[in-house]
Amino acid sequence: MKRPLFAVAWLLALAALLAGCHAAKLLAPPVPLQAASVNAFAVNVQFAEPLDRLTAQDPARYRVHAAGTAAEETIDSATLVDTLEGRVVQLIITSGPLPDSAAYEVATQGVRTYDGRDTGARRVTFQTGLGYSAHLRAVFAAHCDACHGAARQDGNYRTDSLAGLRGTGVDSTPDLIAGDPNCALARRTRPRKSAFDQGALSWFESDLIEDWVVGYDGRP
Ligand code: HEC
Repeated sequence: MKRPLFAVAWLLALAALLAGCHAAKLLAPPVPLQAASVNAFAVNVQFAEPLDRLTAQDPARYRVHAAGTAAEETIDSATLVDTLEGRVVQLIITSGPLPDSAAYEVATQGVRTYDGRDTGARRVTFQTGLGYSAHLRAVFAAHCDACHGAARQDGNYRTDSLAGLRGTGVDSTPDLIAGDPNCALARRTRPRKSAFDQGALSWFESDLIEDWVVGYDGRP
């Protein structure tokens, strides 16, 4: 039992050496469940695995409630919205709107993976509303700061502070324009665009950035 694990650890270490600054991505295990409220009526839930459409889109397999209370929100629909990896389900809450900046919990039961395995019971807490310091800072730190931080400023652009994100890069237009889905930051972080690919974002993170820029007016 120990020997194969040891060999795997060595292979990962070797891969980390070869991959240089992308090592952290290779080694980070996928989180079983992540959640974020994308507006007052919707919650996005990301699983670690690609999902089976039938069970993923069954609203009865999800529960959403304020942390520490038993009163459940009414979930009207569950839709597999992630067109890239098939891991993100959007829950539409009809008993909402969810209050802002509150601790909520989402629990899942019996959603199956694309290849038919049961993901069992999973739960995670999240904070409603999208803010820079509470949600986005960590995404930029993990995926962008290596090329847009203190060490180097590719494209004359920094992602390691809110002021940096509002910077202009090589031209004179700000890259983050609150409320604008076509600002450079929202455009480049969409699936298959340059910052999405270079930062190895997931669909969930890409959508988080866009929702923060557009729906929440890029607020701190
Ligand atoms: C591996 C390095 C690398 C990573 C990681 C990376 N970028 Fe970049 N980025 C670049 C380079 C090089 C440029 C300049 C060339 C270009 O414009 O495409 C650039 C340009 C940009 C620009 C345009 C700046 C301008 O001129 O206005 C934005 C916005 C941007 N990146 C955002 C991001 C975000 C957000 C992330 C994380 C999700 C990210 N980048 C991750 C290398 C990187």
